Amino acid sequence: MYDFDKVINRNIPGDLKYEKIAGIDDLLPMWVADMDFQSPKEIRDALVDVATNSVFGYTGADPEYYKIVAEWFKKRYDWEVEKSLIMPLPGVIEGLVCTMRAFTKPDDHVLIFQPVYGMFEKSIRLNGRIPTISELKNVNGRYEVDLEDAEKKIIEDDVKMLFWCSPHNPGGRVWTMEELEAVAGLCARHNVFIVSDEIHADLVLYGKKHIPFAKVPGDYSKNLVVLTSPTKSFNLAGIQAANLIAFDNKVFKMIDHELFATGAFEVNKMGIAATKAAYAYGEEWLEELLKYLEGNIDLVAKELKDTKLKVMPQEATYLVWIDCSALKGDEPFSRTVLKKAHVRVSEGDFFGKSSRDFIRLNVACPRSLVKEALDRIKKLDIW
Ligand SMILES: Cc1ncc(COP(=O)(O)O)c(C=O)c1O
Repeated sequence: MYDFDKVINRNIPGDLKYEKIAGIDDLLPMWVADMDFQSPKEIRDALVDVATNSVFGYTGADPEYYKIVAEWFKKRYDWEVEKSLIMPLPGVIEGLVCTMRAFTKPDDHVLIFQPVYGMFEKSIRLNGRIPTISELKNVNGRYEVDLEDAEKKIIEDDVKMLFWCSPHNPGGRVWTMEELEAVAGLCARHNVFIVSDEIHADLVLYGKKHIPFAKVPGDYSKNLVVLTSPTKSFNLAGIQAANLIAFDNKVFKMIDHELFATGAFEVNKMGIAATKAAYAYGEEWLEELLKYLEGNIDLVAKELKDTKLKVMPQEATYLVWIDCSALKGDEPFSRTVLKKAHVRVSEGDFFGKSSRDFIRLNVACPRSLVKEALDRIKKLDIW
C-alpha cells in the first residue's frame, strides 16, 4: 500500500505549480499537469544511486534502457517496438517540434482538434507553421472527432501534418480502435503525417484500454511517429525524459537530424535512470495510483453534480474538464475561482479559444486537498 494521502511540502523556491501569487497566502494549486505525490521509491533510489556512485558526464541510453522501454510497451499495450527506432528525448514537445520541422515547411498547415493541450497550437505558431483547427464535437457529454469538418479543412488548407493527443488532454477520452482507424484513414487519404502524442497513455482509468496509434491496421510507417514518456505517470516532469518511436529508418534519421540542428540532442543521465526504474519497477505503484485517482475524480463528479458546473466524464488522466458556461460571469470562471476561492486551475482558453468558459482541475493530489478545493468552490457567492 502506498500513501497517496500524505501531503508533501512543495512550497519550495522554483516549484512551478506552487509558485506564489501576490496577496494569496492559502493558494491551492490545481493547474499544471504534474502530481503532488512522490515518485515510487525505486525511482528515487535509482537517482540516489546515480548521484552517489556515478559522475555526471555526457550520457547516452544504454542497451538495457531500450530493452526496458520496449518491454513496458509490450507488457502494457501488447505493442512490439523496434528498439533501434526508439529515440530518447528530453521531452515530448521536443519530439513534436522536431518532427514538424523535419516534415513540414514554414507556412504549411498542421491540424489540431481543439480543445487540446495548448502547446500544440503554440508550437505550430512559434515555428512559423499555421494551425488548422477542427473543433471536437461534444456528443452526449464526451468529445468526438468531427470527421467531415476535419476532412473539409484538410483539403481547403492542404494540411501536411496532424498533432493527435491520445488519450486526450483535456477531454479525458480514450480513443477506440474505430475512432483511430477513421482518423488514420482520413490522414492516409490526404497524405497527412501523424504525430501521436501518447504522454497520458499509462493514465487510463475505469478499465478502459489505451491503443497505441501504431496498432491501427495498415502501413503508416512512413507517416507516423508516437511520443511517449514516463513523466506524467510517475511524476517526473522536472527530470525531463521522453521517447519518440518511429517506424521507418529514414523517418527516424530525419527527426534525429532536426534534433541535432536545434541542439536538443543531449539526454539527461537522471532521466535515463528514472525511466529505467519507472518501467522496470513502477507498475504496482502505478496501478494503485490509478485507483486513487479514480477516487478523486469520483469525488469531484459527486460534489459538483447538483451545481451549475458540468463535469466531463473522464476515461483517462487526472485532469478534470469542467464546463462552467452556465454561470455566465463577466470574467472566465478560472479567474473567479482564483480570486475568490484561492484555487488555481488551468484556464480553458489555454486549450483553444472556444473553451473560455471551461476550467481544468488537476486532482493528482491527496484527497484532502481535492475536498478542500471543492468546499471552497461550493461556498462561493456566485451560485
Ligand atoms: C498532451 C501533452 N503533451 C505534452 C506535454 C508536455 O510534455 P513534455 O513536458 O515532455 O514536453 C503535456 C503536459 O502536460 C501534455 O499534456
